[in-house]
Amino acid sequence: MNTEDIVIRLNELKLLSQELETPEAERTEMMETVTNYANQFIGNLDSTKAFNKEESYSLEITNEKRSLPALLDLYQKEVVEKGINASSGKHLGYIPGGGVFTSALGDFIAAVTNPFASVHYASPGAATIENEVVNWLKKVFSFPENAVGCLSSGGSISTLIAFTAARDHHKVKNELIPKNVVYLSEQVHHSTQKALRIIGLEDVVIRQVSMDAQHKMRTDVLKDLIQEDISAGLHPFMIVATAGTTDTGTIDPLDEIADIAENFKMWFHVDAAYGGFFIMTSKKDLFKGIEKANSLIVDPHKGLFLPYGIGAVLVKDSEAVLHSNYYTANYMQDISIDKMLKSPANLSPELTKHFRGLRMWLPLQFHGVEPIVACLEEKLLLVHYFRNKLVELGFQVGPEPDLSISYFWYPFEKDADEKNKLLMDEIHADGTVFLSSSIIGNRFVIRTAVLAFRTKQENIDEAVAMIEACLKKVI
Ligand SMILES: Cc1ncc(COP(=O)(O)O)c(C=O)c1O
Repeated sequence: MNTEDIVIRLNELKLLSQELETPEAERTEMMETVTNYANQFIGNLDSTKAFNKEESYSLEITNEKRSLPALLDLYQKEVVEKGINASSGKHLGYIPGGGVFTSALGDFIAAVTNPFASVHYASPGAATIENEVVNWLKKVFSFPENAVGCLSSGGSISTLIAFTAARDHHKVKNELIPKNVVYLSEQVHHSTQKALRIIGLEDVVIRQVSMDAQHKMRTDVLKDLIQEDISAGLHPFMIVATAGTTDTGTIDPLDEIADIAENFKMWFHVDAAYGGFFIMTSKKDLFKGIEKANSLIVDPHKGLFLPYGIGAVLVKDSEAVLHSNYYTANYMQDISIDKMLKSPANLSPELTKHFRGLRMWLPLQFHGVEPIVACLEEKLLLVHYFRNKLVELGFQVGPEPDLSISYFWYPFEKDADEKNKLLMDEIHADGTVFLSSSIIGNRFVIRTAVLAFRTKQENIDEAVAMIEACLKKVI
């Protein structure tokens, strides 16, 4: 192609592609449409069901252009009105989502400005925000200043980063893998086993440590298992404790486990994905020992009520984290080494990523922690309120939870599991409030996780009324 032809073609392409740079007047109109949509969505949350079992269709991408209002209508019908309404205060199942508005604004600004947050040289400001968020977390969990950490998409990826550091610190590789032992309780989240598999540790020995009546890991059993494994010539290398189990809201005895790990020179990992931020509440004492962990994960998209897509990991041994994640390449030669150490990319498998730090930094700076702590305290009280109401209806409830998750079942005289399953089906068919189920101690139970920042006493009252109505259909 000669230069003249190139210029002609470039002009044609410019005309076609300029649609991607939306003009200001159109931007303003679009923002208004989206703002109205967001306000309507939030305004209707209380009167909308938390669950609708219908499936979604009609979301196929075609070449046909559609207007923004038409697309928002489609989104409302096919996405928002189907499945679990995760932003609702009536979402009391699994681990409820958040959706603090200022965090959404942080996401919007991050996407518009689009800084390259992974590398300090590329955006010293964005990388510093990511690092300041990690520094704040270190203070919350009393981790030392020289610990490292990064933001991830959530608990599962944070666990991968933490376990990779544990693996590299203890040099668990090749023929040593089947001789290394990991200790965890039955209530550990499944992302733990998944992470071990993904990082090549599928063949380590996994010991399930039994639990006491409160679903806490039994440290006497843990010690015995470790001793037995050492006598058998194995290498106990990591203990995974949970600060807030997914099914029962239990905090393992962290301080005792920390001492055992130290005694046997093992890696001590704490999964605080769900429960971690309750350390800022009246439950602080239950977290004693968390500061001794070698690694810790915590999910701001759970206990800080931020929208899905932000987890965090803290690790004390920076070298262990750098071992797998620090890498340089020819195309990065403009970046100096000291700047590299300030770059989130060197502590995580991700290079290019969404600038997540802003969705946490902005709400923390804007609101401060006081309303967050109040909201967490409220969740702790609400779960007690809920349990009391259920007992009044004749339900059996699990042991008093450490945090805001609990479970219950109706003591039908015959076929209790079958009938509680029917009750769960009725609750799902009703959908006013969403609850989920689990199997605990071989029993089918209905779970409640009170963590949505929008959950208030009225929502629990609605849940109780719904459960009572559904129970009448099953009895
Ligand atoms: C205790 C615990 N750990 C880890 C995870 C996994 O986190 P994520 O879903 O953010 O990957 C969860 C999720 O519910 C959890 O409850």
